[in-house]
Amino acid sequence: MKAAVLHEVGQPFVVEDVDLDGPREGELRVRVQASGLCHSDLHLAQGDNPVVVPAILGHEAAGVVEAVGEGVEGIAVGDLVSTSFSSFCGHCAQCQTGHNHRCDTKPAGITRPRVSLRGEPVYALAGIGGFAEEVVVHRNSVVKLPEGIPAECAALMGCAVLTGAGAALNGAKVRPGSSVAVIGCGGVGLNVIQGARIAGAAQIIAVDTVPAKLDAARQFGATDVVLAGPDAVGEVRELSSGGVDYGFEVIGLPATLLQAYHMVRKGGTVALVGMPRNDAMMDLPIAKLMFNEIRMIGSFMGSSPFQVFLPQLARLYLDGKLLLDELISDRIGLDGINEGYARLVAGETRRNVVVF
Ligand SMILES: NC(=O)c1ccc[n+]([C@@H]2O[C@H](COP(=O)([O-])OP(=O)(O)OC[C@H]3O[C@@H](n4cnc5c(N)ncnc54)[C@H](O)[C@@H]3O)[C@@H](O)[C@H]2O)c1
Ligand SMILES: [Zn+2]
Ligand SMILES: [Zn+2]
Repeated sequence: MKAAVLHEVGQPFVVEDVDLDGPREGELRVRVQASGLCHSDLHLAQGDNPVVVPAILGHEAAGVVEAVGEGVEGIAVGDLVSTSFSSFCGHCAQCQTGHNHRCDTKPAGITRPRVSLRGEPVYALAGIGGFAEEVVVHRNSVVKLPEGIPAECAALMGCAVLTGAGAALNGAKVRPGSSVAVIGCGGVGLNVIQGARIAGAAQIIAVDTVPAKLDAARQFGATDVVLAGPDAVGEVRELSSGGVDYGFEVIGLPATLLQAYHMVRKGGTVALVGMPRNDAMMDLPIAKLMFNEIRMIGSFMGSSPFQVFLPQLARLYLDGKLLLDELISDRIGLDGINEGYARLVAGETRRNVVVF
């Protein structure tokens, strides 16, 4: 089967034939139908965060189950499944307390390579490796989705939608009638915006450097937009009469996290959703943290168990309350992946999807 392989950090992906082994016990084999280009894969490919090479990246995939290994229950051949980064073991303290997206141990075997290239093992990101025609994944890395969800939408649900909507609904727990600022309106940020809309926020201020992203933001539920720049904090504070209740950073930069901090009002919540470099640090004027009783939180993979939350989001889509089709900008082939990422960096895309 064909896969886009990262041989060296900082180099382009190379599409080539690889071998896939399995499914073994507890695993299933999925014929991938669609796979989204998340910025997190690019962070890894560029060396912002560590990755083992050679690797098949891609963690936002959906497809049809082709074969199930021994002991797999609740999923059958022919089902449409979406993959998730937050594979879980089910028995660590985090899993047992309802936070399996924060699983401490991960299922045994999730990092055991199932892919090889000329006999050498190839690492599959998050035990998925979704930039490939097929994947072998652990049962606890996928969720079955209801009928009526197009595969390319199901793919985006696995990360961009789960992460963004979940940060608003489960992480920050946006309240009805509240005000929200979202800095960074890419694939994930647009979903923070629609998560806040679904939560009933009265004011949602979108901030981005690219005007087209602000148009998209309005479509997803933003009530106001601000073209990012040195005055973004002042503009958001003015639009919200002194500061917002929730400030989301969805890029991964200390400078914009600091902006979010200065955008929130007393008692406000700052949520970091963007993925910073592993060595990122920031200077924070901390007196305000205490006097203004500001909460600072991180939100990872939607801050909730994906196997419960994704079917709920699917119902919202089927009821017309969650936009998915509108997230897709380009449908590309696997060999278009390098260009697809170049367009993401240029700010030209909402979400590119590899369609098989
Ligand atoms: N927390 C999680 O679990 C999780 C999951 C998935 C992705 N992420 C991270 O979320 C971030 C966003 O991912 P994405 O796929 O939406 O990326 P993206 O590239 O599609 O979106 C980033 C957006 O930020 C805008 N931007 C860039 N610099 C800006 C600035 N200085 N001010 C305002 N806007 C600016 C860009 O124009 C773009 O619209 C990435 O860091 C990604 O790794 C985190
Ligand atoms: Zn992602
Ligand atoms: Zn666990």
